[in-house]
Amino acid sequence: MTPAAANRVEVLHGVNLDMLGKRDPEHYGTLTLVELEVRVRHWARGLGLEASFFHTNHEGEFVERLHQLPQLADGIVLNPGAWTHYSIAIRDALEIADTPAVEVHLSDVQSREDFRQCSVIADLVIGRVSGKGVDGYKEALDLLADRLGVTPPAAA
Ligand code: DQA
Repeated sequence: MTPAAANRVEVLHGVNLDMLGKRDPEHYGTLTLVELEVRVRHWARGLGLEASFFHTNHEGEFVERLHQLPQLADGIVLNPGAWTHYSIAIRDALEIADTPAVEVHLSDVQSREDFRQCSVIADLVIGRVSGKGVDGYKEALDLLADRLGVTPPAAA
């Protein structure tokens, strides 16, 4: 039997990401989270990836989702929001998940406040993208497709 293609990617949104569309558009653009997900799903399909999505404002729920992910996904795109900068619990859960992951930030965290310069997950991920708005998710998917060896479906 041919093994199932390892092409499942979960996109994890952390704290306050459900406020997109209401947050400062200079940093976060104008798309809502649902609109962002529509784009990401479309890009994923074009690359031969199957995207699923998860959002929570609760750190423990984010951790528990990471615990489940090795059974559910072959790759992870995560924007933990503010947790990026201090949550060792999320760092530990990502390490336990041991699944290729790319860190994304809509805003350019490197050129913002000092407290946003630190990412406690930086050394665990295969790539980091920030300051590219929603297009950063496309870049993250490209990196994962490459890592997973997934090729785009033939055009119909
Ligand atoms: C963010 C950057 C974080 O510093 C911030 O706390 C967020 C969003 C981004 O996508 O730019 O909530 O992760």
